[in-house]
Amino acid sequence: MVRVTATPSEIEEAAGVLRAGGLVALPTETVYGLGANAEEPAAVSRIFQVKGRPPSHPLIVHIGGAEQLDDWVQDVPEAARLLAERFWPGPLTLVLPRSARVPLEATGGLQTVAVRVPGHPVALALLSAFGGGVTAPSANRFGQVSPTTADDVRVELGEAVDFVLDGGPCEVGVESTIVDATGDIPSILRPGGVTREDLEAVLGCPLAVPTTSRVRVPGQHPSHYAPRARVVLVQPEKVLAEAELAQEQGHQVGVFLPASFADTPVRAHAVVTVPTSMAAYARDLYRFLRELDQQGCDLIVASLPTEEGLGLAIANRLRRAAGPRLPL
Ligand code: TXA
Ligand code: MG
Repeated sequence: MVRVTATPSEIEEAAGVLRAGGLVALPTETVYGLGANAEEPAAVSRIFQVKGRPPSHPLIVHIGGAEQLDDWVQDVPEAARLLAERFWPGPLTLVLPRSARVPLEATGGLQTVAVRVPGHPVALALLSAFGGGVTAPSANRFGQVSPTTADDVRVELGEAVDFVLDGGPCEVGVESTIVDATGDIPSILRPGGVTREDLEAVLGCPLAVPTTSRVRVPGQHPSHYAPRARVVLVQPEKVLAEAELAQEQGHQVGVFLPASFADTPVRAHAVVTVPTSMAAYARDLYRFLRELDQQGCDLIVASLPTEEGLGLAIANRLRRAAGPRLPL
C-alpha cells in the first residue's frame, strides 16, 4: 500500500527546514501550500520567486491555533473572534490589521494580514513542531491549477521545494474562504471551503458587500486556477452539443459532463462526469482540470453549478479558469 501520511520524523525534519529558511510543501484540507517561516523575509521572498508571483500579492499566514491570533493581528472585532472560534481549524482565512510580528514581505506591503488555522493533522503537527507562523500560498506556479496531492506539487515545483510533506489527497479541494474581518460586519473577498450560508448562520446577519476602498484585494487577476487547455463555459444543456461541435472542428475536447447526462455517449477526446454533490465536485475539481490537461485536451467545455453552498466557490474557480489568460 502507498503510504500517504507524513511520519513524526518527517514532520520534525520539515520543521527544521523551515527554521533553516527553506521551503516546505505542506498538505492542508483545502490545497497543498508552499510554506516558509513567516518571520524570515528572505524565505518569504523565495516563495514569490518559485511561484513566479508578483511580490505585491499577499500571502496567508498559517498558525497552529485560534489562541495565537493576537500574536499576529490587532484590533480584532467581535465578529472575527466568533468566526475564528467557530471555523478554526478549517478552510476560513481572516484578513485583519497586522501586528508588528508580520513582515511587510508577507503582506505585499499591506497593513492587513490574512491568517488561518488549517484543518489538516499534518499541517497542525508541522505548525506545532515549528512553533511559529508559516506563510503559504497554494503550491503551484502563478495562475495555474492548485495542487491537491503531494505528487501534483512534485510534478509542478520539483527541485524548487526543499521538502514535500505528504498528507494524502486534500478533502475540501478548493481554497479557503477569505473574509475581510476588519469591520463590524465581515465580507467575503474570495469564496471557498466555508460557505456564505454557514458564515451568515454563525454571525446571525447577512455578510457585507466587499468595499475595495477599505481593503485592497490583490491577487485577483481574472485568470487564475487555469489549466493549459482553454476553458469554455456554456449552459448545462448546451455542454454536449458545444463539445461535439468543437471536437468535429479538430479540437481535442475535454468535457465536464453534467450528471444528468451521465449515461449519454459523447464524441469527445475525454470526459469527466460532474458529481452531484457539491462537496465531491469541489474535492475533484482541480484533479479533473489536471487530468484533462494530461490527456492532451486543448479545450474544456463545462457549465457553472448553482451558486449556493460550495457551488459559489466552484463557479468562481471555473469562471477564472475560463478568464483571459495571463501573458506567459
Ligand atoms: O486554502 C488556502 O487558502 C490555501 C492554503 C494553502 O492555505 N492558500 C491559498 O493561498 O490559497 P494563495 O496565496 O494562493 O491565495 C491567497 C490570497 C491572495 O491571492 C490574496 O487575494 C488574498 O489571499 N490575501 C492575502 N492577504 C490579503 C490581505 N492582507 N488582504 C486581502 N487579501 C489578501
Ligand atoms: Mg493560489
